[in-house]
Amino acid sequence: MNPITILAIESSCDDTSAAVIRDGLLMSNVTASQKVHEEFGGVVPELASRAHQLNIIPVVDTAIKHAGIAKEDLSAIAFTRGPGLLGSLLVGTSFAKGLAQSLGIPLIDVNHLQGHIMAHFVEPSADYIASNPKLQGVEIKHPAFPFLCLLVSGGNSQIVLVKAYNDMQIIGQTIDDAAGEAFDKCAKVLGLPYPGGPWIDKLAHEGNPKAFAFAEPHIPNYDYSFSGLKTSFLYTIRDLMKAKQLETVEQLVEAVPHLKEDLCASLQYTIIDVLMRQLKKAAQDLQINRVAVAGGVSANSGLRDAFIDYGKRFHWEVFIPPFSFTTDNAAMIAQAGYFKYQDSDFCPIDEVPFAKTQI
Ligand code: KG4
Repeated sequence: MNPITILAIESSCDDTSAAVIRDGLLMSNVTASQKVHEEFGGVVPELASRAHQLNIIPVVDTAIKHAGIAKEDLSAIAFTRGPGLLGSLLVGTSFAKGLAQSLGIPLIDVNHLQGHIMAHFVEPSADYIASNPKLQGVEIKHPAFPFLCLLVSGGNSQIVLVKAYNDMQIIGQTIDDAAGEAFDKCAKVLGLPYPGGPWIDKLAHEGNPKAFAFAEPHIPNYDYSFSGLKTSFLYTIRDLMKAKQLETVEQLVEAVPHLKEDLCASLQYTIIDVLMRQLKKAAQDLQINRVAVAGGVSANSGLRDAFIDYGKRFHWEVFIPPFSFTTDNAAMIAQAGYFKYQDSDFCPIDEVPFAKTQI
């Protein structure tokens, strides 16, 4: 029997990524990030879609070459249909359609959020591990069903009940900003580059997490809110500037030793506390002790430590993806596509992308 070989394309935001999976093993995963947004302090949608147009052919070509296959070997093409930026999604979607049509193979649409959760099922091939030293010796555990997944990225903060590969239910989600957005926007206030999450993570190591107490939301059920915390962070800085009679944040962080580090540590501590409190409530109420984390913010070292800590304290079996599969990547889309291929769950050629969150 011919192997099942799937090319996956991810272009939902500002990363152009392509991956190849063969009989369930990841063969390649290539990502081009877009530096063009740095100077604007956030992703500029029009620039993102133009950069995807420039990147898509070389990225797909490299993924196919790294996998050691020819495009004629492909059984299907999976692509991220949404949620995301429409202009960005259109590039990946149109490219996937054109290539699938020219090769006469089926198309598989993948939900970006489900893709993040499927990162937990990626099984890298021996060749892939050999060429990615960071994965060597890393244990990739696949959760059994059902499990809870905290999905935290730049655009989403959700608690998802995962009953099967193709059966997921959002049981809690943010009513305003996402956790990644809170990291990025507060980092911007401090004058840190975009995306600010990794910078806050780095500076937090040097600071005191209890130096500042920011307002925490008290939301019923399992939902999240981060806009109040963001305002509280901003007001804390404004009050400090007033007290010291300084004009700019730059002058303030220069004048007060360790202030930047303490603000970052306290912010990170509060965001993690908010995330974990609702997750613990959900795990208790649903009596589920398999708990996973996914999405770009799952790269945060404090959040990863909190997962390990909660696992020990509340007897959870915890699942934390390898760093390379936390932020946007096509390996997770390939994995989701591989499961859908086995169910012959293909999509029509006239399928259109969608921008808003749905699972
Ligand atoms: O999943 P992702 O790559 O893209 C979206 O689909 O949104 O997530 C990007 C988000 C950004 O907000 C970024 O600041 C955040 O993930 N992020 C982090 C860390 N690494 C990435 N946030 C906190 N700590 C990190 N180490």
